Amino acid sequence: MLKELTKIKEQATQEIQAVQNEKDLDQVEIRYLGRKAGQLTLILKKIKDLSAAEKKTVGHQANQLKADLEFLIKNKKLELKDQLDLEKEWLDVTLPGQVSQAVGHLHPNSRIQYELEDLFRSMGFMVLDGPELESEYYNFEALNTPASHPARDSQDTFWLSDGNLLRTQTSAVQVRALREYGAPLRAIVPGRCFRYEQTDASHENTFYQLEGLMVDKNISIANLIATMEALLEGVFKQDLDVRLRPGYFPFVEPGFELDMNCLICSGQGCSFCKQSGWVETLPCGLVHPNVLKAGGLDPKKWSGFAFGLGLTRLVMMRYGIDDIRLMNSGDLRFLQQF
Ligand code: DAH
Repeated sequence: MLKELTKIKEQATQEIQAVQNEKDLDQVEIRYLGRKAGQLTLILKKIKDLSAAEKKTVGHQANQLKADLEFLIKNKKLELKDQLDLEKEWLDVTLPGQVSQAVGHLHPNSRIQYELEDLFRSMGFMVLDGPELESEYYNFEALNTPASHPARDSQDTFWLSDGNLLRTQTSAVQVRALREYGAPLRAIVPGRCFRYEQTDASHENTFYQLEGLMVDKNISIANLIATMEALLEGVFKQDLDVRLRPGYFPFVEPGFELDMNCLICSGQGCSFCKQSGWVETLPCGLVHPNVLKAGGLDPKKWSGFAFGLGLTRLVMMRYGIDDIRLMNSGDLRFLQQF
């Protein structure tokens, strides 16, 4: 019987090692450990008929062999499963990569912003940044708009409990820039602004402006007009006429609304320009002496102009977008059109 056990051990071990799939492994298991006719099972069944001495040696070896074979089979099962998983997951890392169809692109807002940054850099302007979470001082007070000023009513915003606010205008960077760089200064500040606003097709609580500031000796309205024409012709890629109307903003004096001729009707009058032939485009003016003072400059020596381009609105005009809420929607059906 001991000889038989040795033979079973050799054969079974070899067969277990040789099998290539689970089905064959099951067959081997049945052949040796099957409940009714497994070769080892039969031996185990006979042990009860042996003498006490034989029972001890044979019984011990047979049980040991059973445990060994079970162990080998279990391991082989895991090995076969791993092999199968590997085959399923196999991938050829030398194949060329797949090019995704969905390549992203710039948002129309960014596209025009970058174009304007290039244009202004070519005219010697710096491109500056400022905090979106701003102090009341830079957003209002430094811009000649104290707490009691009625102009604050049109710029309600989101206030933090510490007294800071989400900036309502990129003009907030004017005094920061003057304090940081002094004069002469040429800077634009593209950036995100916020208003406490009921949203509809032409109002959003979050939008983009592009502020401009030029301070030097003897800056006049002529410099302002020339720069604004360059700006608008850069965006619309054609010659334009502009006109100035008086406008009020606390931080400029005089202040203007700059209109450009309506591109939809070429100045003939249509519903977009309310039959006037002109479209209100750019608020601007000469920097108020109080703002220069807040920036640490002597208004007798320095003068300047400033403008506040509604970037979001200009992008909408250029691409014929009729609902401002689409701009921040992240809606791919909208974005993929650009
Ligand atoms: N910051 C103003 C606003 O959001 C726009 C503005 C007007 C900016 C006149 C200027 C300016 O720099 O000169 O309503």
